[in-house]
Amino acid sequence: MVTGRPNTSLTVLGIETSCDETAAAVVRRTADGRGAILANVVRSQLDLHAAYGGVVPEIAARAHVELLDAAIKQAMAEAGLGFDHIDAVAAAAGPGLVGGLIVGVTTAKAIALAAGVPFVAVNHLEAHALTAGLTEGLGFPYLLLLVSGGHTQLLIVKEVGDYERLGTTLDDALGEAFDKAAKLLGLGYPGGPEVERAAARGQAAIPLPRPMIGRPEPHFSLAGLKTALRHAAQARAPLGEQDVADLCASFQEAVADIVKDRTARAFEICSERLGPGAQKALVVAGGVAANTRLKTALEEVTRAHGFRLVVPPPALCTDNAAMIAWAGAERLARGLTDDLSAPARARWPLDPDAPPAIGAGIKA
Ligand code: KG4
Ligand code: ZN
Repeated sequence: MVTGRPNTSLTVLGIETSCDETAAAVVRRTADGRGAILANVVRSQLDLHAAYGGVVPEIAARAHVELLDAAIKQAMAEAGLGFDHIDAVAAAAGPGLVGGLIVGVTTAKAIALAAGVPFVAVNHLEAHALTAGLTEGLGFPYLLLLVSGGHTQLLIVKEVGDYERLGTTLDDALGEAFDKAAKLLGLGYPGGPEVERAAARGQAAIPLPRPMIGRPEPHFSLAGLKTALRHAAQARAPLGEQDVADLCASFQEAVADIVKDRTARAFEICSERLGPGAQKALVVAGGVAANTRLKTALEEVTRAHGFRLVVPPPALCTDNAAMIAWAGAERLARGLTDDLSAPARARWPLDPDAPPAIGAGIKA
């Protein structure tokens, strides 16, 4: 549904329940397009899932039901606002675990209906993509590298609702690859920080493959690297602490090389597509952006291609509701709202016109 909005300041309540964070936030967007976070509440369910080495969808959905009302109440209290001060309610409506999405979407619709304000169904990936506008006031266009536990994508962000996907993963997401590497080496969950910690004590001297390097399309594939890591681990079994550290360092180095090469290719395509006068900026979002080795690799390749590197603060790079509220406000400002029949969507590509990546599995 498209409704005209006067060009005024907009205050939006955002809800995020697509994975294992139950989050609610209130964000204000001024008439000139600047954003301010009035409240940002995130209740992680990490403890509930840690024992399983990954997110269990049914446990996540139940936890969202239990945690969401209190998170919303807290966000509204911290913002010092009542529902009568809210211009819209936005919820992540996909992609993600559908049980959790339904909890957030249904709650958002109920509040919107009761408060008599529009509902905005936000694409979770769009919310990651637009965060740099909230945190850095970054204008369009820019290149986005999204690297989280569930997503690995390179996208040109041209405008709200206008995305060109350049690359995706053919199998595992980058964060998922870190989590699986940690699991097979006997480290804890989430695996990324554990691998990074162990890698700091290791030598990156174990030869591991760098799948996809040199390919013209900036897609990723991590499954072969994971298998090679398993074989390298088996060859050294039983693993001592130094073996684990060396395997982690070697794995992390391989990932850094892959990310550098794929991003470099995306820079070339992005520059061709946007022409010489366009802004040259790379935004990195997602939990994997916290990795120091990857950050250094990205700094190098970004500088080499004359791009500027923009990494929003970690708390806004990982899943949160401020990004959902901001994407909701950006959509509302453009008259883009949804009716109450809008569904939760397990899959929801940002660029539906992107050709399927050859060999891609369900994550593409
Ligand atoms: O964005 P995020 O918090 O949640 C979603 O997946 O949406 O990302 C979590 C992912 C996990 O796979 C985690 O292992 C990874 O980000 N991660 C890292 C690091 N910190 C978190 N991966 C590598 N190095 C890190 N320091
Ligand atoms: Zn996410």
